[in-house]
Amino acid sequence: MEDGPLPVPTMLHEDIEADVCVIGAGIAGLSTAYELTRRGLQVVVLEDGLLAAGETERTTAHLSNALDDRYFQIERLHGEHRAQLAAESHTAAIDCIESNVWREKIDCDFERLDGFLFTGPEHSTDYLEREREAAHRAGLAGVEMVACAPLGSFDTGPALKFSRQGQFHPLKYLRALIAAIARNGGRIFTHTHVDEIHDGTPCEVHTATGRTVRADAVVMATNVPVNDRVTIHTKQAPYRTYVVAAPVPLNGMAHALFWDTADPYHYVRLQRCQSHDLLIVGGEDHKTGQAEDPEKRWEALTQWARRRFTMGAIVHRWSGQVIEPIDYLAFIGRNPGDKHVYIATGDSGQGMTHGTIAGILLSDLITGRDNPWKELYDPSRKTVRAAGEFARENLNVAAQYRDYATGGDIKSADDLMPGQGAVIRHGLRKVAAYKSEDGSVCECSAVCPHLGCIVHWNDAEKTWDCPCHGSRFDRFGSVLNGPAISDLKALDARETQVPDLATKD
Ligand SMILES: Cc1cc2nc3c(=O)[nH]c(=O)nc-3n(C[C@H](O)[C@H](O)[C@H](O)COP(=O)(O)OP(=O)(O)OC[C@H]3O[C@@H](n4cnc5c(N)ncnc54)[C@H](O)[C@@H]3O)c2cc1C
Ligand code: FES
Repeated sequence: MEDGPLPVPTMLHEDIEADVCVIGAGIAGLSTAYELTRRGLQVVVLEDGLLAAGETERTTAHLSNALDDRYFQIERLHGEHRAQLAAESHTAAIDCIESNVWREKIDCDFERLDGFLFTGPEHSTDYLEREREAAHRAGLAGVEMVACAPLGSFDTGPALKFSRQGQFHPLKYLRALIAAIARNGGRIFTHTHVDEIHDGTPCEVHTATGRTVRADAVVMATNVPVNDRVTIHTKQAPYRTYVVAAPVPLNGMAHALFWDTADPYHYVRLQRCQSHDLLIVGGEDHKTGQAEDPEKRWEALTQWARRRFTMGAIVHRWSGQVIEPIDYLAFIGRNPGDKHVYIATGDSGQGMTHGTIAGILLSDLITGRDNPWKELYDPSRKTVRAAGEFARENLNVAAQYRDYATGGDIKSADDLMPGQGAVIRHGLRKVAAYKSEDGSVCECSAVCPHLGCIVHWNDAEKTWDCPCHGSRFDRFGSVLNGPAISDLKALDARETQVPDLATKD
């Protein structure tokens, strides 16, 4: 979602104290900071890049309580009552965004609209029927079967209609929350990388520039927590998802949200423009670092859309990362093993509502208020019925360590085109090599500093992506996304090529 740069506050230049230190300025961090400052707490936000420039900038901003992992699956793993709480929390998140829009008078294209779920080739109407019944048991009594989703000439066949969903422009929304946080006394610092967090009374947060924030509580809203080395990362998996956008005739199809049940699934919505509507189609997900064909993914999305809609040339395309929890619910609450450190992660494709739920739930936990969703999203929960999903994802991670035994993508950096990166084998070492447009080559260790998997080149984003738990690094090796908290090592640094799997959590 594009809309000009957000305001750029300054770096943190001194040691400071606060009631709560929030790390990460995406929707989860800013929603939490906003709610806490409304409750009168002194809040500091530390962001290592620009505001809302993480996955929040890449979202397609469907606001939905039609959960992409399906109510019948959540009921199977967590039971009927918890499925009800999940429905309640996502519904409350959309309501919360709507209230904030009214309270702060935010012009962010917020609108209520219907959502439609239709089947992909793998499923029949029985699948929708099963979901309709589970959604009703979860308390969404209005969910109904309709003959077809209103997608113009595209006959979707029967679809489930979820009413009172929403869409908005997240950057316009967050710009207003940032202004409100500042007005409420909150302090926001950008370009401030956090590299250590210590639970305690007070907690201490250390930045890469040697500054310390002392606070009664810390919220890790870094999309993927960087304070936990193992536990949470065995319970969720990173996926890359792709989006294309093209003009379609004004009012040629209903303004609504659309999703299919294909694997990987497609998600569709419209954005109003002056002379046309912009059709935004997403999907073609794959596990991060485990496919190197972004052009094919965008082309497949474009073909999928072209077969169904009359649309112009693609005017925007982008990709991003979502974190899929193995038991289909986000992890929002006290970090396992800590007393005063809280996390929000496992957003799935529903990070707009999950981020907003984090704002409500974490503010309640920090200020000692009861919240009915506390156990549902507890990061320490164990979901025995998700053992199969747990084994599947962690076997996939284990398989990535085979990269140590394989050769490089190319023989030497001489084979690189300008603007391209590849992994090269130098004797026993694996090296991440990137050739700049001016022909100079930057080489660093290809070993992810989190738990030692070998990073892969992502040509669409010009980043190094780790196939194990989704850490990402820029072309020169600087860390962009956790769980890694540090950069890819310089080549002359001592480096363990045997992964440090014995490291404690
Ligand atoms: C293509 C795409 C489409 C999507 N569509 C939808 C949708 O339609 N509906 C929906 O609900 N969700 C959607 N999502 C998911 C949603 O966008 C994300 O889940 C959500 O934006 C995540 O917000 P966040 O605040 O958790 O993380 P982010 O927005 O990534 O924010 C985390 C911040 O933490 C900062 N950070 C990280 N490490 C550190 C550190 N060590 N020190 C300081 N700061 C740090 C990062 O710089 C970043 O700004 C989509 C995602 C993608 C990629
Ligand atoms: S993200 Fe865990 S090993 Fe790279």
